[in-house]
Amino acid sequence: MIKKCLFPVAGYGTRFLPATKAMPKEILPILDKPLVQYAVEEAAEAGLCDVGFVTGRGKRAIEDHFDTSYELEHQIAGTGKEKALEGIRALIEQCTFSYTRQTTMRGLGDAILKGEAVIGDEPFGVVLADDLCIGDGRGVLAQMVGLYNQYRCSIVAIEEVPPDQTSSYGVIDGEKISDQLVRVTNMVEKPAPEDAPTNLAIIGRYILTPDIFDILRSTEPGKNGEVQITDALMEQASQGCVMAYKFSGRRFDCGSVSGYVEATNYFYENLFDEHP
Ligand code: UTP
Repeated sequence: MIKKCLFPVAGYGTRFLPATKAMPKEILPILDKPLVQYAVEEAAEAGLCDVGFVTGRGKRAIEDHFDTSYELEHQIAGTGKEKALEGIRALIEQCTFSYTRQTTMRGLGDAILKGEAVIGDEPFGVVLADDLCIGDGRGVLAQMVGLYNQYRCSIVAIEEVPPDQTSSYGVIDGEKISDQLVRVTNMVEKPAPEDAPTNLAIIGRYILTPDIFDILRSTEPGKNGEVQITDALMEQASQGCVMAYKFSGRRFDCGSVSGYVEATNYFYENLFDEHP
């Protein structure tokens, strides 16, 4: 059973400057809830309640968000405003939270390797909180855990992107198993449209088997001098099996201003439950 989930949150969020100069990107709210809370809720729904953050400098607000604020609790005790904290209180109760730091931003692969200390030798989920996902009845991570139980190998979530956007993603190719499942045979990090094998882009949801750590340790930095998880996954696919899953639901790229605005509008129109 998968119990642990890693949240790499060490990145600088440069696409959101100046908002992210002193505040973590993951604390940006969609309506009244920070991105990172949506992400942890999705993991908890999938049964992944041991939460590990790979943080960096200037990310303390994330730790504080998943802790009790006594002054605030005291201030609003007995008022209708307590309702606004019900969700986060329940999450804090349900999950455990561990933190480790990535001291130099050497890429997502390096951030995941730093998480080995909190994961150990078991399969685990990885969620990039700036990809906000809504599932089709079941959360995206819950869908992937179901698949892991069937295939017992690493799984990446994918979606079709417009061909001119492949250079923003890791792109996969492979053998079609079903309408939603592809066995990966090739992966390219941020290919130019003319070099992209398909338009199937990896989004910020992964289930990884722990042999990924040894592979990451020997993965040379790739594009932009960063250790790419895509390179490590390609190695894992060549040694055994990696599946790519076209998830049911919708994803918003909240690391970009346009995706963030789109998510805000969608959530306001479809999912907003205003509290007093
Ligand atoms: P992004 O590519 O979105 O980078 O990283 P970023 O720094 O957060 O944002 P921009 O592009 O500068 O605006 C994808 C995820 O990987 C994490 C980020 O925190 C984000 O969740 N990450 C990336 C790390 O934790 N460490 C890294 O070295 C790089």
